[in-house]
Amino acid sequence: MALSDIFIFFLAAIVLFLWWRYWSVSGKGPNNLPPGPPGWPLLGNLAQIILQGRHFVFVVGDLRAKYGPIFTMQMGQRTFIIVTSAELIHEALVQRGATFASRPPDSPIRLLFSVGKCAINSAEYGPLWRVLRKNFVTELINPTRIKQCSWIRNWALENHMKRLQKEAYESKFVEVLSNCRLTICSIIICLCFGAKISEDRIKIIEGILKEVMLVTSPKLPDFLPMLTPLFRRQVREAKELRKRQMECLVPLIKKRKAFVERGENPNGEMVSPVGAAYVDSLFKLEAPGRDGLGDEELVTLCSEAINAGTDTSATVLEWAMFELVVNQDIQQKLYMEIVDCVGKDGMVNEEDAEKMPYLSAVVKETFRRHPPGHFVLSHAAIKETELGGYTIPANVNVEFYTAWLTEDPDLWVDPGTFRPERFLEGDGVDVDVTGTRGVRLVPFGAGRRICPAATLGVLHVNLMLARMIQAFKWLPVPDNPPDPTETFAFTVVMKNPLKAVISPRKAIEEN
Ligand code: HEM
Repeated sequence: MALSDIFIFFLAAIVLFLWWRYWSVSGKGPNNLPPGPPGWPLLGNLAQIILQGRHFVFVVGDLRAKYGPIFTMQMGQRTFIIVTSAELIHEALVQRGATFASRPPDSPIRLLFSVGKCAINSAEYGPLWRVLRKNFVTELINPTRIKQCSWIRNWALENHMKRLQKEAYESKFVEVLSNCRLTICSIIICLCFGAKISEDRIKIIEGILKEVMLVTSPKLPDFLPMLTPLFRRQVREAKELRKRQMECLVPLIKKRKAFVERGENPNGEMVSPVGAAYVDSLFKLEAPGRDGLGDEELVTLCSEAINAGTDTSATVLEWAMFELVVNQDIQQKLYMEIVDCVGKDGMVNEEDAEKMPYLSAVVKETFRRHPPGHFVLSHAAIKETELGGYTIPANVNVEFYTAWLTEDPDLWVDPGTFRPERFLEGDGVDVDVTGTRGVRLVPFGAGRRICPAATLGVLHVNLMLARMIQAFKWLPVPDNPPDPTETFAFTVVMKNPLKAVISPRKAIEEN
């Protein structure tokens, strides 16, 4: 071997070694990032996620035990800072909320569905986000509007109960998640477009939303943009899906506009008075940086509301029902509270649901024991800053692992046990679900980006749970007991969707 060959060999070995070190050491180093697990060249910690074949949220759960309150994961070319301690989450989201209130960059596919971040959840912290969020809060979820739209919930719940009865008659059991999804979706569609549409059309809209969620969930090119050319087919399919979404919702928007502007309502589909639908407010909204809101933006903003409000609430209902099916004594106690409040036949309305402390405790305990999201949405710092003694660069993903707070034995007594009573007289009594006074249970996030529709979400869950328990006794399906294994499908749902036998309470009492 010539001397020059040996020299080249050693040079190559040194370069390889430095390259390996650069990619395998997350954190620390000259840029003072939080420490983190070593990764592979180029792939970083993405390699571990792929090799383990488990979803990111579950892998992070294990890493927390080793790396503690704040750590870095290098996901391909993207840096993720994971924050897990109550103190640091509170500091970032509440005490220094403005600094951490932005969102990280989005993939081209996500940008397609948000028309370049023109949605409340994805907009960067700034004037556009402020205007969109303020409009959402004043137009969709102010208390007067919520009251004004109570007929929508009554209509949807009537359909819901009939559908449950029919399904139970035909299959001998009911599936909880799919039924709750459909009902909540129908409520939010009506809130958005002021229209009562057929169940078949609701199913089409719901189906498209599900596809959108799948297509926009993180893929390899989100972490390794250099691979984007290999994913041309996925981009083409995403564009086709967006086209279908537009074709499905634009006609509804056009009909609403004709109703608002000219009072046209040929098939009587438009049922909410002018001004009462969310989209009515968007027709005239002036959004900073946008030349008016066109069909693309209106579809995005209404889809966002349907999307954000459907899966979250339906997931909570599935887990609540799971606990009530496996804990019959809790179900009975809840039923007795409902009967005490409205009687066996009285219709539970929204004010009644607010007056039932045990119902509220069951729902809070469900949020605690089965948080629908293990993280809030991804945050980003508006400028380089510091947290826990480490540097947080602007625009990296800052992920708040809020599910851990509800499992932490330092924050909760016997955290693995489902015990609603803890919210009536125990360790949960003083909990502040807005997180302002400290974060122990924050299913809606905390601070500037806290879910703007938390009250509406809780209202849907409370009302549906109360009506379902009042009408039926819920029992496990013989030979097919509920299985609490979790899986990730945008929210953390049951891997084997909950099925239950329902017996009308009236029939039980007559026998
Ligand atoms: C049980 C029901 C619900 C849960 C658990 C829930 C949870 C959350 C969470 C964790 C966030 C992210 C907070 C953050 O990034 O820090 C969020 C944001 C959001 N939610 Fe909800 N949500 C629920 C219901 C709803 C409903 C019914 C709607 C609309 C009709 C809605 C609309 C939104 C919007 C627009 C955002 C983005 C806020 C922003 O970025 O400023 N949510 N929600």
